[in-house]
Amino acid sequence: MDEIRIGVAGLGPRAVGTWIPMLQRIPGFRVTALCDPIAPLLDRARAQLSFPSSVRTYQAYDELLGDPRVDAIALTVRTARQGDLAAIALEAGKHVHAEVPAAHAIEDCWRIVLAVERTGRIYQLAEQTRYWGFVEAWRSLVASGRLGRITLCEGQYFHHYVAGMFQDPHTGDLLGPAALAAHPDARPTWAQLMPPIHYLPHELSPMLRVLDDRVTQVVAMSTDAPSAAHPALAQPDMQVALMRTRKGTLLRMAASFAQPHPDGNWHWYQVLGTGGRVEWSRGAGDRPKLWLADEQLADLADADWRYERTDAPSEARGSGHGDADYYTHVAFRDAVLAGRQPEFDVYQAMDTAAPAVLAAESIARGSELLTVPDFRPHPGRQEGEGP
Ligand SMILES: NC(=O)c1ccc[n+]([C@@H]2O[C@H](COP(=O)([O-])OP(=O)(O)OC[C@H]3O[C@@H](n4cnc5c(N)ncnc54)[C@H](O)[C@@H]3O)[C@@H](O)[C@H]2O)c1
Repeated sequence: MDEIRIGVAGLGPRAVGTWIPMLQRIPGFRVTALCDPIAPLLDRARAQLSFPSSVRTYQAYDELLGDPRVDAIALTVRTARQGDLAAIALEAGKHVHAEVPAAHAIEDCWRIVLAVERTGRIYQLAEQTRYWGFVEAWRSLVASGRLGRITLCEGQYFHHYVAGMFQDPHTGDLLGPAALAAHPDARPTWAQLMPPIHYLPHELSPMLRVLDDRVTQVVAMSTDAPSAAHPALAQPDMQVALMRTRKGTLLRMAASFAQPHPDGNWHWYQVLGTGGRVEWSRGAGDRPKLWLADEQLADLADADWRYERTDAPSEARGSGHGDADYYTHVAFRDAVLAGRQPEFDVYQAMDTAAPAVLAAESIARGSELLTVPDFRPHPGRQEGEGP
């Protein structure tokens, strides 16, 4: 095989704005099918394609999976069933490149893992921030021991995404609360119904890569619902998880979609160890920071780390999210064509989802401390193990 025939399922802004253009630009992919239950979105996505006449369209996901001209699924849905849909595709013999979060239920994490192990099909999570330049730099610093023993790692995803909290089922248009009067049939989207803390993949994935670690325990808290910032939204404004890793580091990670926040300034990270600390910038006018205990630094110093990698190939430039969107597509393509699982494998992918799912479960149980399963094959692994 030298070309992957791919079907794109879920035709919202992420598919139309990034995935379809990229799948047409990166050699090795051919879009052969499109799928979304909302018909006008099929027409909109088809209009983007260079060879629309050779592409089949489906409103039912199981019909897409039955298409023999589809080798792989680009899963760009936003639904509670995200993990379930990935598992079903693997079980149907398709390779899967899935958008984040990988799953919204621990059972779905297990199904994905077991389907990959049983079928040998390729599973790639499209978590791209782990490829950022500063993530690579921080990983090297931690691995070198310069930061000493890592005691605390923080991350937050604060994306004021009110405009995507309702959807008109007839047109597929995404709407904010102000548009509800003009769209009486509009329904809350999963972006609104989802516990915000489920959206930790862009915090857990890069920071677990920096730490070379995985989460073993989690406890979490939430503000009340509905949102205080936008009372028409059923979602709480803020959820925070405290976690402990296998190596003994504490993580504090938070997520919010309803609370106002400066546009584009969605991520913030910090890693502290017994030998120093690194911190991401607070805003556009700020710089990342570094402090090393043994370097006679009286205070934090600015460091010009960027999202963009200095070693990015030209094809990655402008691909989205600080050039990072390119990397998961290439990793998926190379894994499928070589017939081997990607370096960011299904176990690491579940490490970015399961702690977040269990953080929401902890909140539902009055902030109970929960144990995160290790999905890797190991003696005594309990398949289906949960809290
Ligand atoms: N990696 C990133 O940086 C990044 C950025 C944005 C969005 N995302 C992720 O991308 C995904 C899509 O985001 P979006 O903003 O385009 O979402 P969206 O809600 O606007 O669109 C998702 C589409 O999926 C469709 N869908 C739902 N269930 C389906 C099914 N069973 N079969 C086929 N289609 C189905 C919906 O009808 C909708 O049109 C989400 O999972 C989101 O978390 C990731």
